Amino acid sequence: MNILVIGSGGREYALAWKISQSPKTEKLFIAPGNAGTSSLGTNIPMDVNDFKTIKEIVVTNDIDLVVVGPEAPLVNGITDFFKQDGYLKDIMIVGPEKAGAKLEGSKDFAKNFMAKHKIPTAAYRTFDKNRLEEGYKFIDNLKAPYVLKADGLAAGKGVVILEDSDEAKKELKSMVEELKFGDASSKVVIEEFLDGIELSVFIMTDGDNYVILPEAKDYKRIGEGDTGPNTGGMGSVSPVPFADEEFMQKIKDRIIDPTVQGLKNDGINYQGFIFFGLINVEDEPYVIEYNCRMGDPETESVIPRIKSDFVDLLVATATKNLDKQSVEIDERYSTAVMLVSKGYPGKYEKGKLISGLDRVKDCIVFHAGTTIDIETGGIKTSGGRVLAVSALGDTLEEALEKAYENADIIEFDGKYYRKDIGFDLK
Ligand code: AMP
Ligand code: GLY
Repeated sequence: MNILVIGSGGREYALAWKISQSPKTEKLFIAPGNAGTSSLGTNIPMDVNDFKTIKEIVVTNDIDLVVVGPEAPLVNGITDFFKQDGYLKDIMIVGPEKAGAKLEGSKDFAKNFMAKHKIPTAAYRTFDKNRLEEGYKFIDNLKAPYVLKADGLAAGKGVVILEDSDEAKKELKSMVEELKFGDASSKVVIEEFLDGIELSVFIMTDGDNYVILPEAKDYKRIGEGDTGPNTGGMGSVSPVPFADEEFMQKIKDRIIDPTVQGLKNDGINYQGFIFFGLINVEDEPYVIEYNCRMGDPETESVIPRIKSDFVDLLVATATKNLDKQSVEIDERYSTAVMLVSKGYPGKYEKGKLISGLDRVKDCIVFHAGTTIDIETGGIKTSGGRVLAVSALGDTLEEALEKAYENADIIEFDGKYYRKDIGFDLK
């Protein structure tokens, strides 16, 4: 089978890495991909939101299965585009239609969906510029800290948490009136602050059935001890020790089942990944957010723990056959440590030569922001998050030790990584 993975980050490298190991994979394409994916398959440069070009790629390369990595093309309707096209409608695609991707594309939609289907989440209300005064009153009636969320996609930056109610009001005004996050903040969800420890839970669903993938915890802040600005994610760990059988059962009964059933009841055909961003508040799970894709860097610790043939799971997702599948999971701990460019998540330089990739051992290096230097053939940095160094171990400590040994071996000018991934789980 010929397979196309859309995207260019560590998540897409991890998906492509796993897909490349399946005997069912004949030709693998990654569009646009990165320096690492070019050794797993064929990279095709393109914009992930350019559906016409994606169609050309599918036709030209006789693609049978398309896996959509990032949220933007899903929210923009890539799957609807496939379903409505005479040729593409027969091609398997993993990723929800626009209506389902709204779980990530609109916080207001996601909150309404949870309220309707009685899925535990923080109390909330949504405001726009015509209801500013009501928003101020709502803030006055909430306890600090105040959580303000831009309704639409804001590249992971649309959530602001403030301690002071006057600042929260100012922030609300700047979001809805001055469109601080562009159109994404023309509506703002204000919600109750939940105090707990977060985890990420993933399923693949065909709209009727689902399988649960290994859960993970990611480390979003740039600084050690979870300090400083939010990033795309600085590392991840799987499994999450506090997500024991009893806790996972609560997640299944109260969150996963009603979500899958709710989508179905609402007439939304969802075939793809659902990423549940959850928080554990005194042993009770609540939904912080939904994403319509896998997490990054969670994928880089989750994928190494999946023993099953991943292409079988993807095909079953796209063809409504997941009831015939199960996921075999490696019991070991898996970690991913992100090596990032100096300055990230703010301004950073690109084009730094990466060395040491040939000296790593007993780990998997998932490429994210890397590119091949045309003149020298060397590998250079091309993004904020450059490489995820992942390792497996019988204990969390062993997995971390291996990941960190190798993180030290890889060098590039300005390399930075958090040295405390998993610190709160030990
Ligand atoms: P989101 O983009 O919705 O995942 O929010 C980004 C981050 O803000 C989350 O990972 C949490 O750390 C934090 N956050 C969001 N909503 C809440 C909430 N209701 N209570 C506490 N923290 C939250
Ligand atoms: N690691 C969080 C995310 O992918 O959104």
